[in-house]
Amino acid sequence: MADIILGIESSCDDTSAAVIKDGYLLSNVLASQEVHRAYGGVIPELASRAHQLNIVPVVSQALDQAGITADDLTAIAFTRGPGLLGSLLVGTSFTKGFALATGKPIVEVNHLQGHIMANFIKQYGKENRQPEFPYLCLLVSGGNSQIVKVNDPLEYEILGQTIDDAVGEAFDKCAKMMGLGYPGGPIVDRLAKEGDPERFHFSKPHIPGFDYSFSGIKTSLLYFVRDRMAEDPQFMEKNKEDICASFQKALIDILMDKLVKAAKATGIKEVTIGGGVSANSGLRNRMVEEGKKRGWNVYLPEFKFTTDNAAMIAIAGWFHYLNGERSSLDVAPVSRLAEF
Ligand code: KG4
Repeated sequence: MADIILGIESSCDDTSAAVIKDGYLLSNVLASQEVHRAYGGVIPELASRAHQLNIVPVVSQALDQAGITADDLTAIAFTRGPGLLGSLLVGTSFTKGFALATGKPIVEVNHLQGHIMANFIKQYGKENRQPEFPYLCLLVSGGNSQIVKVNDPLEYEILGQTIDDAVGEAFDKCAKMMGLGYPGGPIVDRLAKEGDPERFHFSKPHIPGFDYSFSGIKTSLLYFVRDRMAEDPQFMEKNKEDICASFQKALIDILMDKLVKAAKATGIKEVTIGGGVSANSGLRNRMVEEGKKRGWNVYLPEFKFTTDNAAMIAIAGWFHYLNGERSSLDVAPVSRLAEF
């Protein structure tokens, strides 16, 4: 009999529910929270209230779109962490209530593992290329920047990670510093397409091994803008495309230098990206270029699976389910999860 998994994601500011049948996507519903835009960042208290409003209609739509009822489900997979505790509590509590009402088993998923496994979501009528194990995943989001060696669906080794800020934060802070709006990543990406990436240069960190650091480059942008604005108050407005293009290129160079190094050291040529920043067009182009140059097989998740979504939680949950894992009803969410 087919395994039908309902995925539930509520770790930050997106409420999402998805249904997957034997790895194939049947539905993926997402309610994004516009309320945070006015504040230039996610306000945790507002996020949990919005999840509370959205979760029932979102799950109900996901089941309807999949053409199933709760009785058809094999299991419910949910994000246990990491994320905002109040947000996670909504998804976890809903999952437990739904499980009690339906008698279905529940399976906890690490949100980061969801991003990594996004490449395994199959869709009807699509090519559905999937990386072979072991592969490298450049996991880049608002909270993480890691190079992960994925040995099998459930076994991960973190080869390198940021020692301070995540690359998504660097994108967001760049946009904030320049008064461009929130969330910054997509805005910087859009402006960068019109700018010259070679025009300005930002100092890059010298960190040993495969680890990253993004706090220095952020400060370097801050001083650069401050000094140029002192000479010409219109500098930013006149040059915002070139600044975004140059800053984005510097961030991508930092990411790719270490990824190339890790691929050389491990001899692995199967390479993927995941997480919100994997939506960045510059990074995606660069992955393809490096792949051609170095003989990698590159796998890029579809845009809708780059930012937070429940399809990735359902697919990761399915692998745990197949491994015989079940969570008990006294499971509690965790804002920080060290291990996958
Ligand atoms: O994975 P995600 O949705 O949330 C978590 O952090 O878990 O990632 C959000 C991050 C934000 O920093 C956002 O600015 C960034 O992903 N992002 C992008 C792009 N789209 C989203 N960064 C660069 N270019 C983009 N196109």
